[in-house]
Amino acid sequence: MEETTEKPLDEIVEEPEDNSTKKEEEEIQIDSIPGVGPKTAEKLKETGYSDIMAIATASASEISAICEIGVPTANKVIAAARAMLSMGYETGLEVLEKRKDIIKITTGSNSFDELLGGGFESGSITECYGAFGSAKTQLAHQLSVNVQCPRADGGANGACLYVDTEHTFRPERIIEMARAKGLDEKKVLSNIFVGKAYNSDHQMLLVEKAKDMIKEKNIKLIIVDSLMSHFRSDYVGRGSLADRQQKLNKHLHVLSKLADGFNLVVYITNQVMSKPDMMFGDPTQAVGGHVLHHAATFRIYLRKSKGDTRVAKLVDSPNLPDGEILYKITSNGVEDM
Ligand code: GTP
Ligand code: MG
Repeated sequence: MEETTEKPLDEIVEEPEDNSTKKEEEEIQIDSIPGVGPKTAEKLKETGYSDIMAIATASASEISAICEIGVPTANKVIAAARAMLSMGYETGLEVLEKRKDIIKITTGSNSFDELLGGGFESGSITECYGAFGSAKTQLAHQLSVNVQCPRADGGANGACLYVDTEHTFRPERIIEMARAKGLDEKKVLSNIFVGKAYNSDHQMLLVEKAKDMIKEKNIKLIIVDSLMSHFRSDYVGRGSLADRQQKLNKHLHVLSKLADGFNLVVYITNQVMSKPDMMFGDPTQAVGGHVLHHAATFRIYLRKSKGDTRVAKLVDSPNLPDGEILYKITSNGVEDM
């Protein structure tokens, strides 16, 4: 119930990112925001506000509490950070050129891939939500194997960073899937970097620290399974909902910056809740509210059907028609019917 009444918070604002060696630059920049002294900068960094964008999109009350400064001063800091952001317009032609670099990772099922216009797309966040047993985690396992295949086989020749919040990553299942594809199982396992998240702050940290690993390990896929479970249990009650959404907004912002800046596929899984006031249609909806709704470019609703059959429904995408397909989960993994 709580999610249906939550207020929409600021939409995620994308920061144009053209390279991956910005760490030092960002740290210099934050000190150079007018009104931010070394002490304030230190406090901001300690709490994870380590780049201009994070400050520019923060709320005044947040910055005020962290830096122990008044709200009007916090507002000035935020305004200064916003002024420092480059606007980063691109021509349509440049966007088209950039889209040529997009990688699409196969799900293992042709009909599922077709539904998504070729597979899970790099540069944006794809969310799958559904009830327990709807195959969200199975799909995560499958993608972490498939990303390692050559481009011609629907992979990205890359490794996977797997943030496991429910402790359901199973190497045995990876072995099964790798064998089914004729891949060296040990090699496949050694290219999946699993981070077990123990709470929402830890989960955020695992993603924030990912930057350094991406180049070093040739990461092409980041999975967060599941995005909301810790956030839901760490922030209980209506009063903490705004705090939760703010943190979530930040977390998603980091993920979307990584997706865009490093041309990665980001797959997040999400839980559902029942909307009891809905009279017609399927009353199931994803948790996470508007913040999440705006952050995920592709949203897919997963459902169980008879036996090993599963249903995937595309509910939101910028350029594809909504649709629904059937696929199955077998001992080999995700397959066509
Ligand atoms: P929650 O995390 O509980 O919300 O569910 P989920 O959507 O992540 O479900 P998950 O991906 O774990 O799917 C579970 C279903 O996948 C099971 O009910 C099985 O039908 C199927 N499954 C899981 N593991 C295997 C396996 O090793 N072999 C086969 N053939 N099927 C499996
Ligand atoms: Mg799961």
